[in-house]
Amino acid sequence: MTPIGKDILAALQGIVGAGRVLTDAESLLRYGRDWTRAHTPDAGVIVLPSSIGQVQDVVRLAASKQLAIVPSGGRTGLSAGAVACNSEMVLALDRLNRIEDFNPVDRTVRCGAGVVTEQLQQYADAQGLFYPVDFASSGSSQIGGNISTNAGGIKVIRHGMTRDWVAGLKLVTGTGELLDLNRGLVKNNAGYDLRHLVIGAEGTLGIVVEATMSLSRPPENLAVMVLGVPDMASIMSVLAAFQGGIELSAFEFFSELALCKVVAHQGLQRPFDNPTQYYALLEFEQPDEQAMETAMGLFEHCVGRGWVLDGVVSQSVAQAQALWRLREDISETLSRWTPYKNDISTVVSRVPSFLAEVEAVVSASYPDFEIVWYGHIGDGNLHLNVLKPDGLAMEEFQRRCGEVSKQVFEIVQRHGGSISAEHGVGLLKKDYLHYSRSPLEIEIMRQIKRVFDPQGILNPGKIFD
Ligand code: MLT
Ligand code: ZN
Repeated sequence: MTPIGKDILAALQGIVGAGRVLTDAESLLRYGRDWTRAHTPDAGVIVLPSSIGQVQDVVRLAASKQLAIVPSGGRTGLSAGAVACNSEMVLALDRLNRIEDFNPVDRTVRCGAGVVTEQLQQYADAQGLFYPVDFASSGSSQIGGNISTNAGGIKVIRHGMTRDWVAGLKLVTGTGELLDLNRGLVKNNAGYDLRHLVIGAEGTLGIVVEATMSLSRPPENLAVMVLGVPDMASIMSVLAAFQGGIELSAFEFFSELALCKVVAHQGLQRPFDNPTQYYALLEFEQPDEQAMETAMGLFEHCVGRGWVLDGVVSQSVAQAQALWRLREDISETLSRWTPYKNDISTVVSRVPSFLAEVEAVVSASYPDFEIVWYGHIGDGNLHLNVLKPDGLAMEEFQRRCGEVSKQVFEIVQRHGGSISAEHGVGLLKKDYLHYSRSPLEIEIMRQIKRVFDPQGILNPGKIFD
């Protein structure tokens, strides 16, 4: 790839304006990395276009000069998918941050790629509707980034992933052409649905510049329960029992160590005094009094079977929010230990045996490291974070974790699971992609990339080399 010289900087300024081409050290660092810290950022230039036409012009320039582009949203990713460490141009979509229009009949919102998730959630709320994809980073993640990573989060069990809410999207390809995919249609079987190829492609096929997002009815009177459980197997029994009786909108879990860390560092209260090995967090709607009675009946059933040792249920919105923080604040709390993050999944029915095998490997392999479990266990997605001890060099820590990862990913492979349930592959997981994808699948991915991005300028080196 070509280095970025003065002539290119001048051409970029001609497209987006002088103040929108940044080369100062602070901006290069800020825009050159995401929430991961495993790679040293080294961006060449930051470009902030304010229209789709400008994005196309920048990409055409990059294609003509053979310049690598890293598309950039809120940079809250956890797989180094938005990290620029080879002097690339970072194309940040921050200024495409307008909600363009709302259609109450279709219940869709057309918005720029730079609209922040929370902005969309609040906009939906103001229309009496609901955008259900939610996660701890919704205050800074952007819709374009959510689409490019097919972001999941805490309500997938009920509402699915970002993919399920994209009614249409506009994409600038690696040659600077604009594709308008699906145009908000509910039904469209006219050939391949390229929209779904782009969702989750981590910016390697094109730059998402605009999206038409679907909205739904708001939930009614959400309640949150936190239950103390003695072991992983019990968590799955609790899930089956509750799903047999009510519709859950979330079923999350975390370990006692996760709870201790979050309580100590976020100034939160424990849900109840007696510690248990694991905790399940459940959320459900209460449209009427019967809903809580049913939930309490299920709770008592689980206590009677020994699957639940203790529990609390929210009595107000504030209490529900406080209980959610016990789960949602874990990731940020752990970031001070620069954890080695695993984001693995299998089909829900295989979770108990999958978990037991992973736990056996991990506890034998990391006797001197703190291991923190949490995640979206209701959809089969487990986050296993290994905390870096103070004083251990990052490289040595990564090396030791990488060795164990291979054993963990062999288990993932045996269970037909995924090495990356929701965070994506980026730079972090590309060496392990073959544990979840066959050689033929990876070769087809490469061929598809060549079609969208013939010169290989879009996020090169991410997902695969
Ligand atoms: C979460 O579930 O909290 C997020 O995926 C972030 C993380 O895994 O740390
Ligand atoms: Zn997660």
